[in-house]
Parts: sequence; structure tokens; C-alpha cells
Amino acid sequence: MPVASDRGPAPAPAILEALELFEANRRPGEPDVEPGYLDLLGAQDPTGGGLGQRLMVSRLLPLVYQRFWRPVGTRLLMGVAGPGAGEERRLALEMLSISPGDRVLDVACGPGNFTRDFARAAGESLVVGVDASPTMLGVAVRETEGANVAYVRGDACDLPFRDSSFDAVCCFAALYLIEEPIRALEEIVRVLAPGGRVALLTSCGRGPLSAPAANSIVRTLSGVRIFGRDELTRALADRGLVDVEQRVTGLAQFVSGSCPLAG
Ligand SMILES: C[S@@+](CC[C@H](N)C(=O)[O-])C[C@H]1O[C@@H](n2cnc3c(N)ncnc32)[C@H](O)[C@@H]1O
Repeated sequence: MPVASDRGPAPAPAILEALELFEANRRPGEPDVEPGYLDLLGAQDPTGGGLGQRLMVSRLLPLVYQRFWRPVGTRLLMGVAGPGAGEERRLALEMLSISPGDRVLDVACGPGNFTRDFARAAGESLVVGVDASPTMLGVAVRETEGANVAYVRGDACDLPFRDSSFDAVCCFAALYLIEEPIRALEEIVRVLAPGGRVALLTSCGRGPLSAPAANSIVRTLSGVRIFGRDELTRALADRGLVDVEQRVTGLAQFVSGSCPLAG
């Protein structure tokens, strides 16, 4: 049982396990775990200034995110015929094919709405949720019971983990809000172990709403980026991933891929 010291609470075992995956020069001397997650950012805020990004770090939105915002946003993005919440969870688990013993990273995990599913699928193995929003992570910590889950407040574009640390990496409903999405994608690929799987859910420009045209309006108004139809599949393939697959629904795309086995 971790013991509190003068410097605040001692890190929980899952946070200690996560710290072991850090690059040596990224391990904080005195980890700040006071809020229940490991805070690597302190006063820094790498999320952008757009409306969508500001909402994610606000006090109110994280409180209503899972029950109201996410279901409504999903419908708008995926269309009425798109997958519902249960189907989306099933898709995530299928794309990542997590089994007990797999180490899982949930990038931009928000309130941990998918992280908790991954924790159940991974058995006793470590599942890490990274997000930049203290208010989102506050909800995640409050609603997560799994002893195998560690939450880290960090930047998706500058992950602290060593190369090949995870067997499965998810990034759902976030790349379109991340300021430098291709950098985040490179980080995701970097921390993926040989044979590991990646699953993404993000926006997809279609028909008259081509990505550059849409971005000039949507991104300017909301901070949300619209990706080109092949932009992410190509980006993953160019970075060496194999079995890259895409499923487009409404203005959203699910993308999955695997890191080739070594040798
Ligand atoms: C819409 S939520 C997605 C939450 C969850 N993955 C889901 O599918 O519902 C987007 C999250 O991305 C996070 N985010 C945005 N930019 C980030 C960055 N640079 N690094 C880490 N998290 C970031 C926000 O704080 C927010 O919690």
C-alpha cells in the first residue's frame, strides 16, 4: 500500500508501473500525483485556443461529456445510421484485439470512457490513459476502479514512454482536436510494440465537404480539423504500419493498423 509523505501522496502501483515505461530523462524526480493522476504538464496547456479545445479543459463540459456531449457529437459526426455507443466500444476492442497481458495506451482518453473497457479486457495488465485536460482526468480518476489503470496528464504530441512500450494504442475522438495531429500519430506509432495494434476514430472530409474547404470554415469556427479521406491511412502506411484498414461512416472514420512483427 503506497504511503503518503510530506511531499504528498505516494504514487499508486499502476502509476509506478507506468513510470517504468518512461524514457529515463522523462521520469520526474518528485512525481506530482496529488490529483490522483500523474501530472507532467503543471501550468502548461498544449491544447489549442479553438472553441472545441477550450471546452475540453473547461470545468463544465467534462461533467456532461459522457452522458450528453459524446452521444450527440457522435450522432452528428457519424450520422443516424452510424454505430451507437455499444457498437463503437465493440469496434474499438475488435480493432485493438486486446487480450489479458496486453499493455494498452489510450491517447487523449478524456474521462476514461474507453480506458475502463480496455482495463477489463487487459486482465491485470497495465492500461494508461493520457490526456492534457485536468478536468477530464478528474472525472476519469473518480469513475475508474480498476487497479491496473494509470492516468497521466501529458501531451499526445510528446509522449514520455520509451519506443515499443504498448501492445495496443487507441486514439478516439481526439486527433481532430490535437494541435499537431501528425506528430501525435508519430508518437502513437513510436510507442507501439512489434505486432501491436492501433485504433483511431476521427473526422473524414467527404463529397462537397473536401478537407481543405471544410477546414477553412469548421476549423476556424470550432477548432475541429477535418481530415482528408486518405490522409491518415496514408500517414500510417508511410510510417511502416501494415494491415491498415478504414471504415467511413458519415463524416467520421475508424482507422486501424498493426506494427509489423520484428525480424
Ligand atoms: C473529445 S475528447 C475524447 C475522449 C475519448 N477519447 C472519447 O473517445 O470520448 C478529446 C480529448 O482530447 C484531449 N486533448 C486535446 N489535445 C490534446 C493533447 N495535445 N494532448 C493530450 N490530450 C489532448 C482533450 O483534453 C480531450 O479530453
